[in-house]
Amino acid sequence: LTAAELSSRKHHSELFLLEELEVDTVVITTPLMFALFMAGISQFLVGYNTSVMNSPSSVVFKGHTTFQWSLAVAVFAIGGPFGAIAAGKVVDSRGRRSSMGIVIYLFLLGSLVQTFAMDLFCITVARFIIGFASGFSSVLVPIYLGELAPPTLRGTLGTLTQFCLVIGIFVSDLLAFPFANEQSWRILFSVTGLGALVQIICYPFLIESPRWLLSHDPKSINARHIIKKLRGLRYEHEVEMEAAHFISASHVQACDNNDDHTSSGIAFVSMLMDKQVRRLLICSLVLQMAQQFCGINAVFYYSTMLFDGVLDSPLLGTTLVAGVNVLATYAALRLMENTNRRTLLLWSAGGMLVSSIALVICLLGYFSKFSSLFWVIAYVSFFEIGLGPIPWLIVAEMFEARYVATAMSVSCQLNWACNFIVGLVFPYLQESLGAFSFVPFAAVLFMTLIFVLIFLPETKGTTPEELRDEIARNLSAFLATSHDTTYEDHSSSAGNPIDVEW
Ligand code: GLC
Repeated sequence: LTAAELSSRKHHSELFLLEELEVDTVVITTPLMFALFMAGISQFLVGYNTSVMNSPSSVVFKGHTTFQWSLAVAVFAIGGPFGAIAAGKVVDSRGRRSSMGIVIYLFLLGSLVQTFAMDLFCITVARFIIGFASGFSSVLVPIYLGELAPPTLRGTLGTLTQFCLVIGIFVSDLLAFPFANEQSWRILFSVTGLGALVQIICYPFLIESPRWLLSHDPKSINARHIIKKLRGLRYEHEVEMEAAHFISASHVQACDNNDDHTSSGIAFVSMLMDKQVRRLLICSLVLQMAQQFCGINAVFYYSTMLFDGVLDSPLLGTTLVAGVNVLATYAALRLMENTNRRTLLLWSAGGMLVSSIALVICLLGYFSKFSSLFWVIAYVSFFEIGLGPIPWLIVAEMFEARYVATAMSVSCQLNWACNFIVGLVFPYLQESLGAFSFVPFAAVLFMTLIFVLIFLPETKGTTPEELRDEIARNLSAFLATSHDTTYEDHSSSAGNPIDVEW
């Protein structure tokens, strides 16, 4: 970059760029590995608890009704949004490290209540607590790692935590083989507590985010000490330079937060008032709803039930699906670097649509029952290449710094709410629709396909500012052609669709 190019950047983009240039050579140090390990365990536990109720439904407190069981499963997703809201406040006031402590003890408490449950009510309470911890963790982990990681590693570390989540799902299915029976189902629930115990042992070595420390006290000696260890620096001037980057970054954030957006409530209202931002917000929220209403968690919560009577070993089917899910997430990692978001979402929704229709046909008995396993695997794989990761990562691509936290928080709450509805309703869908239980999901996928095709702008390789300008340009072009809807690609963008009044 030339000096002229640099100076034309907005102030925060500029600082980010400088930061990127300076710390390019940073290696992964032990404190960073440690933070990643702790964050990884938390996300592993989120995944583990997403799927842990899948297999033992027939052995835990036998004789429960469908409503009692599905409530115990789905209440996990009620705890989620509450945890996300609480994290929004605590992560800033108490700091990242203490917040991690809260997550750990919540997981431990939930696991104890669940492992020593006297009845299904205790399990339901435990699932709420664990859901709360999971929602808390899903807000805390990206913020914490994002602040500790050198810029060049941010994307990779972010995706690694999603990896930990899908591995958690896989491990819960593997452990169901020896433990999902009347004698030992409590062991299955105790794994969450074991994970939390490992975290408690490691906690004293966990560092606070220097950016958080410096945002409270720019002179903090402790922050400089942490920076030295975190970045593996030897000289004082290097530490000072790095501290200056952290201070500028948190200053920009503070300015953005205070810049007529003192509370997320106000930020949300002003997002709705701004035409371009409103359009992006709608896109983000529709994608969150699509991610959950496409029925993915019907598979992770209930696939053993789905395969019951269809496969000889429903548990083996569930585990195979979770194993392929891990592989598909790995493939997504590679694809994400070189492929447009819209392209991946179209493949994802299209592939899931075909898979869900094929699954219905299999369940109706037109093909061999074994092929239903194939189509569930295809359905999950298509999910992981698009609808799984993109609704999460697209938020940061769409919104400027002053809006991103609000957009993330609103998206997160809507996502968990829809997750809850699917968890609660799917057993009823299955009871009433039988083999047709995936038809409503197919309908959602069809609408998602149309939405992405017509409305979603491409976000890969553009900054939020560029995206906003482009939407503004498209809107005025649209108004100029007197409400004549155009469905063409715009050459300036990476294949962006149209413009329609919102
Ligand atoms: C996404 C979803 C989550 C789901 C997971 C499955 O992260 O948000 O609800 O369980 O994918 O891989």
